[in-house]
Amino acid sequence: MVSRVIPVDPFDLVIFGGTGDLARRKILPALFRRYCAGQWPEDVRIIGAARSEHDDSAYRALVADALREFAPERAKDSPSVDGFLARIRYVRIDAEEQTGWAELAGQLTEDRVRAFYFSVGPRLFGALAGQIEAHGMVTDRTRIVVEKPFGHDLQSARDLNATLAGHFDEGQIYRIDHYLGKETVQNLMAVRFGNMLFEPLWNSQYVDHIQITVAETVGIAGREGYYDRAGAMRDMMQNHLMQLLCLIAMEPPAKFDPDAVRDEKLKVIRALDQVQPHHIVRGQYGPSDGEPGYRGAVGNSRSATESYIALRAHISNWRWAGTPFYLRTGKRLVARSSVINVMFKDAPHSIFGADAGRHANVLSIRLQPNEGITLKVTIKEPGPGGMRLIDVPLDMSFAEALGPENQDPPDAYERLIMDVIRGNQTLFMRGDEVEAAWAWTDPIIAGWQARGDVPKPYDSGSTGPGDAELLMKRDGRHWQGIKP
Ligand code: BG6
Repeated sequence: MVSRVIPVDPFDLVIFGGTGDLARRKILPALFRRYCAGQWPEDVRIIGAARSEHDDSAYRALVADALREFAPERAKDSPSVDGFLARIRYVRIDAEEQTGWAELAGQLTEDRVRAFYFSVGPRLFGALAGQIEAHGMVTDRTRIVVEKPFGHDLQSARDLNATLAGHFDEGQIYRIDHYLGKETVQNLMAVRFGNMLFEPLWNSQYVDHIQITVAETVGIAGREGYYDRAGAMRDMMQNHLMQLLCLIAMEPPAKFDPDAVRDEKLKVIRALDQVQPHHIVRGQYGPSDGEPGYRGAVGNSRSATESYIALRAHISNWRWAGTPFYLRTGKRLVARSSVINVMFKDAPHSIFGADAGRHANVLSIRLQPNEGITLKVTIKEPGPGGMRLIDVPLDMSFAEALGPENQDPPDAYERLIMDVIRGNQTLFMRGDEVEAAWAWTDPIIAGWQARGDVPKPYDSGSTGPGDAELLMKRDGRHWQGIKP
């Protein structure tokens, strides 16, 4: 199966923070891969904008280095690299001063899609938005792209939304949560709403509980300052895991269009109950193999920031009342693995007697790595000896099922940036969605602060603190293993 490339119209893309880490690691390599795939036309203009002293050729050298490092498989092809670099320019700009703005406006004269990527800290969002408007660069086809963290709490997210709304319509603002750009995350919607098989069972009558795990092996090296102020709750739970929860729990939207999908996700977030303190476990990783533990890494022996969190959430609506959602995410765990396990209830009555044991179906959706779906079903153990039941997996690896071209799915940023150019907001968060997620998060964090809560230590390379197991055990359940 060969993936289809649907070309986009010519566009101008300005990357504020064009020399920064995100631009080098993600944005420029993603644009380059889409260029190699032939998705955008020759007369596209990509303008890096930052405060450093560069001219076009010095910036192109920086971009070429980034491609060699972060898109090495394609960067071997020199004609492609040269073709891509020919479309790159640089403008030295200062968000809070007049430097560079007239020059930038002078380059953006054509009436076509114009995207401004704010790859800078949120502190500068207001200044950038004001300058773009003041220099006459806002047209009907202007879009801005903003990254997470979108705020630090509900109030700061509201302030950011209000600032941006002073210059742009909601339909022009693309708030990125890169998990929504992952091929397998979009697949959640295809699995749920493209098959008759699952939807009738997708409710509290048939589902015992749902487990969402996003486990990472990396620590927080290089991002200590940011991370110690954020922690796993703000860095992962409020956004990425919340989005996964929404896609798993939402009602079928009437159509696959931005507001229909986002309305349904918002209803899920608003139906979440307040999480009880005894339904939350926070952890901090310890040292290993000469590598510092969390506190050593952030240089604060008393840091109370969590690098791991597990919690039990409830959605109070008709579909899910009574079905707990267990969510966990952490750094420096035993394996990199993002999986959603839908744990079905036991059959109501066993005709095979107590000796056959209790068996329940499990649908596992593996988001990364080794993307695929497994459905555990119960069958008779082969051979004589009576009716003994065992569970076997119906296992589908997407790479095997879809062929070798699909073994390396496009990076989330490739999809998301092309969606910005196409003007499709379905996979971007709406302002009210972000605020609702913070409204759920804030009281949890406020509770820790009020109680002086301290995260539990856990070993690097483990599955997290033992208390996370207890959280499940108390409910007569257990976590599925974290496997690569
Ligand atoms: C980022 C978080 O948003 O997502 C990081 O800030 C995290 O802490 C990363 O490591 C995980 O993304 P992925 O695509 O590697 O699963």
